[in-house]
Amino acid sequence: MPDRPAMTPEQLQAGAAAIEWFHRIDLGSGITTAGRDDSPRKLIEIRMPEELRGRSVLDIGAYDGFFSFEAERRGAARVLAIDNWGRPECSPKAGFEFAKRALGSRVEDRTVDVYDLSPETVGVFDVVLFLGVLYHLRHPLLGLERVASVTGDLLILETHVDLLDHRRPVMAFYPGDELGGDSTNWWGPNVAAVLDMLRTVGFRRLDVVRAPAREGFLHRALRSVFNAFTKGYRLHDTQRWGRMIVHARKT
Ligand SMILES: C[S@@+](CC[C@H](N)C(=O)[O-])C[C@H]1O[C@@H](n2cnc3c(N)ncnc32)[C@H](O)[C@@H]1O
Repeated sequence: MPDRPAMTPEQLQAGAAAIEWFHRIDLGSGITTAGRDDSPRKLIEIRMPEELRGRSVLDIGAYDGFFSFEAERRGAARVLAIDNWGRPECSPKAGFEFAKRALGSRVEDRTVDVYDLSPETVGVFDVVLFLGVLYHLRHPLLGLERVASVTGDLLILETHVDLLDHRRPVMAFYPGDELGGDSTNWWGPNVAAVLDMLRTVGFRRLDVVRAPAREGFLHRALRSVFNAFTKGYRLHDTQRWGRMIVHARKT
């Protein structure tokens, strides 16, 4: 159980207001950080096990730490939050540090790159959270290989997906900032590519918890024609993307 330090509501309010948050973290005393991401909704969507008592959890790309603190709250025996905090293309750590202090959390944290993950560097964890990171990697398959090496039981992966009309495993490449105006987004795999990459790095049991709905033929044809006339896309271009969540196990 976290030990809550004595921070007055005024201190919490002022400290939280000085930080640009990604996550919406309930700091207590009626104060929730003004994150631009709807973390509570994402928490429901990813279906993190309600009961984590005695389990170890690794949160990769933890950012402000919302999911790490939640794993701790659900009883995890050990939580390690890692991120490339403060490095180029990555997030600042001010939010994580403030929230950790405000919550009196015992979550461990290390600045580690996904590519440096291995049983030797960080150990192996029962549950690994890999949320919103895959599409930020220049080398997604290599990144997934590293993630697999530190997953003992369950990997929860959440990612942006693109090219949803293709059945074969393909990935869209974003050399600039075409995805969301963010130049740190590199790849948009489709659902088949995510699943096949997971199989390639050793996962056998894949449970797709969420994936964009399939589109009917007529709807797809109309969208293509609409895009062709309004945006100048070629007819065969697909501009349909979304998000997927998968629970992956090796056995
Ligand atoms: C979109 S945020 C996702 C944050 C959180 N996991 C969530 O789902 O709400 C992506 C995070 O991944 C981190 N990240 C990106 N590339 C990384 C890398 N190569 N190694 C470690 N962290 C990385 C970023 O710094 C950022 O905090």
